[in-house]
Amino acid sequence: MSTLRLGDIAPDFHAETTQGPINFHEWLGDSWGVLFSHPADFTPVCTTELGTVANYVPEFTKRNTKVIALSVDGLDSHKEWIKDINETQNTEVNFPIIADEDKKVANLYDMLHPNASDKFTVRSVFVIGPDKKIKLTLTYPASTGRNFDELLRVIDSLQLTANYSVATPANWKDGEDVVIAPAIPDSDIPAKFPKGHKPIKPYLRLTPQPNK
Ligand code: BEZ
Repeated sequence: MSTLRLGDIAPDFHAETTQGPINFHEWLGDSWGVLFSHPADFTPVCTTELGTVANYVPEFTKRNTKVIALSVDGLDSHKEWIKDINETQNTEVNFPIIADEDKKVANLYDMLHPNASDKFTVRSVFVIGPDKKIKLTLTYPASTGRNFDELLRVIDSLQLTANYSVATPANWKDGEDVVIAPAIPDSDIPAKFPKGHKPIKPYLRLTPQPNK
């Protein structure tokens, strides 16, 4: 398979999950989606990650975003592991985990990096828009648990920039000033950004977040 890049259509697939069989695109429907892989069941970092995501589901739902995990172990193993996650992370895993024993989805999404591990998937994240295009990819090593606050922050930025001619600066958080897209001429700013703007350089113009 070739590497998936931003703007590519997220490949569709059929898979068995802990919530029954799915066709990925149909399951996504009109929502945003997060597909994220885990090296293996019954491993410590993955256990904390899945517990964290389960606790964050209301935050993803607020953003019209569905989450789905993947591990290359089987369904029975996933179901036993979920009991441990619920017990140790004080949560209830209520999103699907793909059982990718034949590594079909892992290969489709290039989640196996043989020079890092010949058996385990790396920690990949794909954020997918309602148009089914890939909006973000992240690749973390097995030994580093991901930062799911950062993932929510990026989804906030993606959803804002999909609707307004703005971009978000370094370390931006929902509610803070944003930058006006360079393609917008100064003459269009008053109509497009009625809350005002601060010109710092001709190419660096700040404005309050338009949808707040
Ligand atoms: C973990 O999730 O803890 C893990 C998985 C594979 C290798 C190392 C750590």
